[in-house]
Amino acid sequence: MADSGIVRVLFVCLGNICRSPTAHGVFDAQVRAGNLQHRIVTDSCGTGDWHVGNPPDSRAMAAAAQLGYDLSELRARQVRAQDFEQFDYILAMDEQNLADLQRLQPEDFAGHLGLFLEFSDNTDATEVPDPYYTGADGFIEVLKLVESAGAGLLRAISNAD
Ligand code: 4NP
Repeated sequence: MADSGIVRVLFVCLGNICRSPTAHGVFDAQVRAGNLQHRIVTDSCGTGDWHVGNPPDSRAMAAAAQLGYDLSELRARQVRAQDFEQFDYILAMDEQNLADLQRLQPEDFAGHLGLFLEFSDNTDATEVPDPYYTGADGFIEVLKLVESAGAGLLRAISNAD
């Protein structure tokens, strides 16, 4: 728990149009379902800048909508140095994202930087596979993984109170 009493969570992937906006939208819904929206703030970004300003990939939005999540308001942005000052949890979708973030991480970062799937207790997977070059099934797989990890993250944050 940050000093302010508000926990800030940042989801990070490569483009910020497939995996991290899906994690962002799903976790937001889980936070609202737990009536914790006054305590937990979420955001997402990409390590790359190709899609800055764009909405999520239409396949990500369609898959999310099938499960009741609305990603349409989200817009891509690139990670920035201030993110390490503002967020308590910075959660990477895969090992490459994590390595890129570790290079940017200041020595005095006091938050948690790691893989998002560490918070899932029903998968052995450590990475959310990039669905950008795969079919619709890849996007549903992303949703299942982030729903599970999001539930675990919510429990971890609640237990840290
Ligand atoms: P994401 O997927 O990192 O889950 O948003 C990708 C989106 C775009 C690209 C790669 C991955 N791209 O190469 O443009």
